[in-house]
Amino acid sequence: MPTDMEMALRERFSVSLNESDALLSSDEIARNATGANVLFVTATEKIDANVFRALSPTLRTVATLSVGFDHIDLAIARAMGIEVLHTPDVLSDACSEVALMLLLNACRRGYEADQMVRSGKWNGWAPTQLLGIGLVGKRIGIFGMGRIGQAIAVRARAFGMKIHYHNRSPLAPALAQDAIYHSSLKELCRNSDVLMIAAPGTVELKGALDHAHLNALPRGSVVVNISRGDIVNDDALIGALTEGHVFAAGLDVFANEPNIDERYRKLHNVFLSPHIGSATHETRNAMGQLLIEGLAALRRGERPSNLLS
Ligand code: DGY
Repeated sequence: MPTDMEMALRERFSVSLNESDALLSSDEIARNATGANVLFVTATEKIDANVFRALSPTLRTVATLSVGFDHIDLAIARAMGIEVLHTPDVLSDACSEVALMLLLNACRRGYEADQMVRSGKWNGWAPTQLLGIGLVGKRIGIFGMGRIGQAIAVRARAFGMKIHYHNRSPLAPALAQDAIYHSSLKELCRNSDVLMIAAPGTVELKGALDHAHLNALPRGSVVVNISRGDIVNDDALIGALTEGHVFAAGLDVFANEPNIDERYRKLHNVFLSPHIGSATHETRNAMGQLLIEGLAALRRGERPSNLLS
């Protein structure tokens, strides 16, 4: 946790830390947190039925420093009456900034450009060097037009892009503005020059971007993922990138992080970043603050807006 957050926690609780920051298995979490009333975790810790059962006599709340909660078994939490807090809203701007970073680097070949300069292989300006894709007038298809998706739309509009999206249901007109709704992911793919994945990670969406959906994208399109890696079928995306059906990808998230599919490392048309969507000083502290305020509200008997169960 950020230092400010650790300090704020120490002022309010008797705190036991995972000092080494090593990634703990759910069994280790259950052992190390015995007797805890509150468990502070991040998206990298799996909080499953084992953890809940082992800690249930004393555990009242799980607070996760993430908006995503696919690592927490919410059904069990609800059944056991354990509260779960997360961090919506405060990270939407930071995540949408990284989404645009990925989009720009994918379209304008950021990795290759950096490599050319860094490797000393740049022989000077040339008219056909590293030609990429311009954004003005292009269609961005946002899969998941929630808080982060809408923040991405604001920025994409400023780049002159046309906004298309797919959600389970259309947004109210005031939120959608000029964005065009598609009732299926396939239909969104057919209408996207850039497909931007911003849907929450859920069991139902695992592998949703498969061969069929990638084939539905126009040839030469770009794929960006700011959400969860396992929404993408890696075989399908790597095949499409290698064959050229997909021009480039920008990926901040991966299945099985940090042990990503090795083939991504070798592809020059992929811009990679290590799950840094919300990684700004301001945002991390805001996330921590939101959890601490949520806990205080719960103890006052109120229902904070970031309560999931
Ligand atoms: C989130 O908040 O869900 C981000 O992916 C960081 O874990």
